[in-house]
Amino acid sequence: MEPLRTLLSVPGNRQNMIEKAGSLPTDVLVLDLEDSVPAAEKATARAMVRDAITGPALKGQRVFVRINSIGSGLMEEDLEAVITPGIDGINIPKPNSADDIKKVEAIIERLEKERGIEKGHIKLTPWVETAKGLINAFEIASASPRIVGIIFGAEDFTLDTGMQRTEGGEELLYPRTMVVVAAKAADVIAIDTPYNNFRDDEGLIREVTLARALGFEGKYIIHPSQIEPVNQAFHPTFEEVEQARRTVEAFEAAEAQGFASTSVDGRMIDIPQANRARKLLMVADSIERRERGSG
Ligand code: COA
Ligand code: MG
Repeated sequence: MEPLRTLLSVPGNRQNMIEKAGSLPTDVLVLDLEDSVPAAEKATARAMVRDAITGPALKGQRVFVRINSIGSGLMEEDLEAVITPGIDGINIPKPNSADDIKKVEAIIERLEKERGIEKGHIKLTPWVETAKGLINAFEIASASPRIVGIIFGAEDFTLDTGMQRTEGGEELLYPRTMVVVAAKAADVIAIDTPYNNFRDDEGLIREVTLARALGFEGKYIIHPSQIEPVNQAFHPTFEEVEQARRTVEAFEAAEAQGFASTSVDGRMIDIPQANRARKLLMVADSIERRERGSG
């Protein structure tokens, strides 16, 4: 599984930002046609994004496009414009149900065929950012084998539910946890909401540390300065990797002797701990491979 630690949003009508983004070490670049583009600029942004995908500036990046929502009346035209060789994924805002995902998927499937893109190449990352979307988060996350992750969107979610946003973000604990549980049940990656105070590095670290503890494996980001700290925060530490190696080794040695429990440093190890350690090693490995590939 490819890491999705950082998904950097770039407004689709900002040529200089799109060009700059080509050399940034984000796991995914998301060219935005939705809420960072004003209504009058939608057509211009579509053309700009299409040119960026087919041009040389973004070679080597994993490029997704955030289309406009299913109900916007713009979704089909967005897909017609941007599904072209070079694109890796579509980011779907505000889905309410699995049906919404299937509508988008049907169009992608047709366009992949027409445009000579390998069937299934284009992945999906739906947002969970409406009240209905949260209730249906699991059916959304499992609506298509193309889905690699779901993203929690706090701004639209609190708007839709009438929640007040607070400094500590306590009101977001329930939706965040729901998104993680739905993602895990569907075996996809949970991606946390953007942190808007992009000059506040400490606040970002606090938030991403909480996100990781809750089970998120990535975060949507809005500014280049957020790439490094967020990539770091989701990268298992050297100590965690060492600990996981020792856990797996000890467990396998015990297994060879016919036991499913043993201990490392005075802590009991059995099947769930061993599996957790294996998972951490897999995550670390996929990140290393990604960094070697793009480095
Ligand atoms: N992608 C690529 N480059 C970006 C960027 C982004 N998201 N955000 C900023 N940059 C570039 C700037 O163009 C600037 O480049 P320069 O040094 O070549 O001029 C550099 O990074 C530093 O930017 P800075 O001056 O600190 O910020 P800004 O005032 O230009 O932009 C925002 C601040 C918030 C307007 C901008 O970061 C932005 O538009 N972010 C994305 C918004 C978005 O996608 N919203 C939807 C999220 S769900
Ligand atoms: Mg949104």
